[in-house]
Order: sequence, then C-alpha cells, then structure tokens
Amino acid sequence: MKIEKFIKKKNKNKIVSLSAYSKNIATVLDNYCDLVLVGDSLGSVLYNYKSTREVTLKTMIEHSKSVRMGIKKSLMIVDMPYNTYRNSKEALKNAKQVMLKTKCDGVKLEGGKKISKIVTTLVKNKIPVLGHLGLLPQSDRSFKYKGKKDSERESILKDAKLLEKCGAFSIVLECIESSLAKKITNSVDIPTIGIGSSNNCDGQILVLDDLIGLNPINVRFVKKYTNIRKDISKAVLNYAREVRSNKFPLKKHSY
Ligand code: KIV
Repeated sequence: MKIEKFIKKKNKNKIVSLSAYSKNIATVLDNYCDLVLVGDSLGSVLYNYKSTREVTLKTMIEHSKSVRMGIKKSLMIVDMPYNTYRNSKEALKNAKQVMLKTKCDGVKLEGGKKISKIVTTLVKNKIPVLGHLGLLPQSDRSFKYKGKKDSERESILKDAKLLEKCGAFSIVLECIESSLAKKITNSVDIPTIGIGSSNNCDGQILVLDDLIGLNPINVRFVKKYTNIRKDISKAVLNYAREVRSNKFPLKKHSY
C-alpha cells in the first residue's frame, strides 16, 4: 500500500495495524492489515529484556528482513530502536540503513518536539516517518496513561501538530486519555493509530502475540481474541504422547 492511500483512509475507513516480528505470521497479517509494524516491543515479547532500550538496530533489521518476506500489500514500518536517532546525522544514517536492508516503507520514532528536526530531515530525505506520542516505552520509566494533567495534554497536542508539520505521515497514540485522543485526531489531517487510546483514533494497533494470548500479559488495553497457548499445548501434548507410545512417525511419515 502506498503512503498516500494510507493517509486517505482518515475519515473514511478505520485503519487496522499489528506488530509482528517474523515471516509466517506476517503472511497471515498481510491479508487483513493496512500496516504491519516491526515493533521494538520484540525486546520484551521475544527477548525478555526489561525495556525496549536494549533492542539493537541489528536485531530490528534481522526481524524486519523476515517480516518483509511475508508482506505484499500492507505498509511495513520498522521501529528505530533507542539511541539510534539521537541527532539528525545519526538518525539519517541509521534510517537509510534500515530502509535499504529491510526494504520497509518507513520508520517509526518516539517523541515530539525533541525529535522534530530529525523527523524533518528524514522526510526531506524521502524516508516516511510514523510518529509515536503518549506513553513512550523508550523513555518513560513508569507505565501510566497520558493526559491527566492540563499541561501534559497541551504538550501532547502541540507535539502531534508539530509532527504533522514536520511531515510525519501518521502518529501512533499510546495510552492517551480518550477525550485527548479525540482532540488530537480531530486536530490533524494525518491518521492517528491508537493503542490504549480508545476508539477516538483513526485506527488501532496491538501486538499480535498479545491479542492471540501467546504473550502472557494482562493489560487493560489488550483484548485477547484467542488463547493460542492452549492450542499449542494441546498439539505438543499429543505429539509427545505419540512419540512416547511409538505412534509417530508412521510409515507414511517415513522414507
Ligand atoms: O513496539 C511496538 O510494537 C509498538 C506498538 C505497540 C505501537 O510500538
């Protein structure tokens, strides 16, 4: 999907997005999603890191190469990990590497005013940028929703307008209070994608492993649509039983 087509979905169709980290899963998501994000959430989901800060560019690139193989239609966006975009020069060098090596459609950066020059530089260099405001896992130490205080609300709204001005094509709003999410969504012409930010956004994003119950977390904003751990357990239990009782493999599974 082209970025222009994605932007035009605002006020027409809700945007469906998910985070994924590998090819086979990406192949499935590509049938239903407008955007697939290779999120640095893989740090906690796959590698058990304490925070996304430990994720490296190399890890993001390898997972993105895998995801790329499964994506034909959706926009594929890659998270720039912590400390890879501390200034415009560093951001441009690293984002160019990500674009070149993973053939993704753009990158996601966390922050507002602090990264505005960086966003401008990337966009000027034809690197599409997805913004990320509200709860910022790369810099926030505590996991509280955003938009309780007036000063915080004003600052996030200002940041959203600034990101749009700098050329971001869309903004992820993470854990933002519902009425603030609405205000932001109505104040910018680019789509907002919510996670824990109510249905007052132009679309939604979740981590696939969370919604299928593979990642055993319980947070308010995740709805579990299935419990895939149960299905896996059942399959593995049957396999183990059959191996132990010599029922697998049969002749038809052998050469
Ligand atoms: O890292 C990630 O997967 C994300 C989404 C949850 C928005 O940033």
